[in-house]
This record gives sequence, structure tokens and C-alpha cells, in this order.
Amino acid sequence: MTTPYLLALDQGTSSSRSIVFDRAGRIVAQAQQELPQHYPRPGWVEHDPQQIWATQLATARQALAQAGIGAAQVRALGITNQRETTLVWNRATGQPIHHAIVWQDRRAEPACARLREQGHEALIRDKTGLRIDAYFSATKLQWLLEHVPGARAAAERGELAFGTVDSWLIWQLTRGARHVTDVTNASRTMLLNVHSNQWDDELLALLDIPRTLMPEVLPSSSLEFGATTPELLGGAIPIAGVAGDQQSALFGQACFTPGLAKNTYGTGCFLLMHTGERFQHSQNGLLTTSAAQLAPKPGGTPAAPQYALEGSVFVGGAVVQWLRDGLHAIRASSEVQQLAESVPDSGGVMLVPAFTGLGAPYWQPDARGTITGLTRGSTLAHIARAALESIAYQSAALLAAMGRDAVAAGGAPVSELRVDGGACVNDLLMQFQADLLGIPVVRPACVETTALGAAWLAGLASGVYADQDELSGLWRAERRFVPTLAPGRAQELMARWEHAVAQATLPPD
Ligand code: G3P
Repeated sequence: MTTPYLLALDQGTSSSRSIVFDRAGRIVAQAQQELPQHYPRPGWVEHDPQQIWATQLATARQALAQAGIGAAQVRALGITNQRETTLVWNRATGQPIHHAIVWQDRRAEPACARLREQGHEALIRDKTGLRIDAYFSATKLQWLLEHVPGARAAAERGELAFGTVDSWLIWQLTRGARHVTDVTNASRTMLLNVHSNQWDDELLALLDIPRTLMPEVLPSSSLEFGATTPELLGGAIPIAGVAGDQQSALFGQACFTPGLAKNTYGTGCFLLMHTGERFQHSQNGLLTTSAAQLAPKPGGTPAAPQYALEGSVFVGGAVVQWLRDGLHAIRASSEVQQLAESVPDSGGVMLVPAFTGLGAPYWQPDARGTITGLTRGSTLAHIARAALESIAYQSAALLAAMGRDAVAAGGAPVSELRVDGGACVNDLLMQFQADLLGIPVVRPACVETTALGAAWLAGLASGVYADQDELSGLWRAERRFVPTLAPGRAQELMARWEHAVAQATLPPD
């Protein structure tokens, strides 16, 4: 019998990628293409839906070709994607009515301000777990219906379809046969009731969004998503796993039970802690979101919804790009570790990279980047080290907030942090992260956990794996970074960090 392969499509903000995994979770082949970004106005970010599809399809074909396998050897396909990004297309022609509005886009902020002024914050938080913000899909969709000529009338006639990137890709892969999404992507729209996993009629009415636009919501691991049209990839491959990229990474890190947490170090950082079946409001500025959910076994009762607490750092690895492109301190991002290691510590320098304000747990949109603690002896190396450390400080502040929420709910704080994403290969950063947190930081053997999560979700639904216990057994640590700082020193450092953050949030004069 040949190994069953799993194909993961990972459609991210800056690139489309495809990875072929074997049953053990090893990467057999991978392909990647950059995705062009469009910035039509300050604060606006768009993607061309056709470029999303074309780059994704091309990488899927390349990955299969590199692996030297055909569709028949792929047991199932999983999709993971940038979340919240909003698309609307015509059901008859398949043509998008506008570019996709990307999650980073702020154009819907006035609509969000109106919702806040009207006092809808508690209603939305209780139903969706989210705070009212232009980040989520709902007000982006509302903007499209209001600004694209003829869109509202066409939506009311049932001619249009809304979707996040997963829905768009599935529509394309099935040539329009399936208009579906999964609970994790749906939970980022601000339109899903995350208790019932149904679109919420009260929220749809509040935002004036016709229900006919909405895709069917499915569990994240399911055989109901459909199958690829044979001519696309050389055969019909079941689409059996779908999850937003951060929830997919949580799954790929085998964080299936309450208290297990992961941090993804990308351009920004996304920290998620599983809270099991408990829908828990954060008292500390975090979001409540749906974690990946499995389909019921045949004849079984529907699985209970699963939740996670989430916090994000806006500028994580992006601070290294700023060192390179803004400060010209390094020529390539890979040089940062060497420069930072050329000094024993940051020499008291603190860098708060609040270039676009500060997210959770601070929520200070008007904060700006700040460097404190400079002396006559400070060098570029100290600033580089402080920049790298700022990624760990921000993540530590998030994890502390999560710990307070967990304890308030009668649970225990996180006992180890699993890490992934581009910057987790930086040993200096990971060691400093462990030192600040006072708990082990664990890097898995496969750091492509976002794609692995989607592959695992697809593998569970298609019978490659029996259950989550089997997946937990496959997850392997490559390295554990154990805290080395003297007791009390981490608290001192965090206090200095909070002091620097306070400088960054002073009102401008
Ligand atoms: O919420 C946004 C997130 O899903 C985007 O992730 O990795 O595409 O930047 P990424």
C-alpha cells in the first residue's frame, strides 16, 4: 500500500503556498508564489481575487509535480488562509464584484465607530466573542454593498456570494458547486453566533446584510466541503479540512485541550490559547474565537463548539524589516541575530515598535514607536537587540493577559508555549522569550504548523488518522528553550518594558 499523501493549500497575506505532507507529517514537496498587494488609498489594502486563485492553483500544481505524485495518491486536501479578508462574487459568472478587502484594511472604521456609538459592543461581544473593529469581515462586506454600484440590489436578488478566502478557493476548486466555509473562518466575520455556529439574524439585520450572501458553515474537519474538479489537479481530491491560519496553526501544534497555547512569529505575532468548550470573555483585552472543530462521527451527536483566546502583536518580525529598510542597520533580515549577539544585552535600551499603534492587551491605536534608555554608549547593536527583544516583550505581555484570564476562569496559567512562524528559528529570540515568560518555549520539528494543521484536519475527516490522540503522538519537539534568568529579573525587565510602553502612549504634543 502506498503512503497516503495530504495536500495543504496555505493562502497567506503575502504569498500563496502549497505543501505535500506524508502520513507522518513530513514535508514531501512545497511551492510558493508571492501575492501582489494593492494599496489604492492610505489605510486601504486589497488583493486581486483572480491573483489569489491563480497563485494558489499554480503552487498546488507545482507541489504535486515536485512530489512526483498525482491526484490519485492524495487522500485529501486541506485549506488554511489569511482570515477576515472579504470577497463578493457573482454566482452566475463567478466574477468578483471588487478586489478583496484585506484584513489590514481600515476603510470600515467609520461604520465601526457608528456601531460603538449606538451601543452595540456588548451584543456583538456576547454573540461573536469579538470587539467591534474594522479588522473583521462584517463592516468590509457592508462597505462593498454600499459602494459597488448595483451590489445591494443584486445581493437582495440572491445573485451574489460572500466569502472569506477559504470560501473563494473552494468555489474555484469545485467550479462553483460549493459555497461553504468553516467555523473558524466564520468566527472572524463578526456575523457568526459562535454558540450555535449559525449566522446570526440579529447581526445580519443590524448590518443590513442579506442572508442570501452567506456561505454554509461547516466543521473544520469534514467531508462536506466537496471535491476538486478533476481537470484542475488531475483528479477529484476531497476537500476535507478548512481553518483560518491561526486556528490551523493551533491545531498543527496539537493544542487540542484547554491551556495549550501557541505563538506564531510572523510579520505580526498571533498568540492563541485553547479554552476547550468554554466560551470565555477576556477581562484583559483579548478576543474570544472559535477553535477548529471536527465533524460528528456518522450517527453521532454534533461536536460541541471549541474556543480559544487570541491576542495579536501588530509589529513582530516586521521590526526586523524596519531595521533593514528604515534604519539600514542590516542588509538582510538574517543578519539580525549576529548583530544582536555582538552585545551581551540591550544595554538598557528598550524599543517599542508601536509603528501602527499597539494591539492587545494595550489597544492604543494612537501609540507610536519609541526608543528609551539610550546612553552615549548605545550602538546600533543595542538597538537591534532591543528590536528583537521587543517581539518577546509584546508576546510576554499577551501571555500574561491570557494567564490572568485563565486563572480568573478557574484554570491554570499556560505551562509551556509552542512556537512557529518565520522568526521562531531565531534561537536568541526564543531563549529570551523563555527567560521573560519563565516557562519553556517549545519549537516543533515541523515549524510549518499552519499548513500541517490543515493537512491534519483533512487527514482526520478522510480516515488517514483515527483521532486527535494519534496526532498528539505525531507532534514532536525539536528544541525546548528553558528559562535561565534569576527569579525576579524577568519581572524587573517586564516592569521596564511597561514603563517604555507608557512613553509610547503619551499623547503627541
Ligand atoms: O488575522 C489575520 C491573519 O489570519 C493573517 O495571517 O499569516 O496571512 O499574515 P498571515
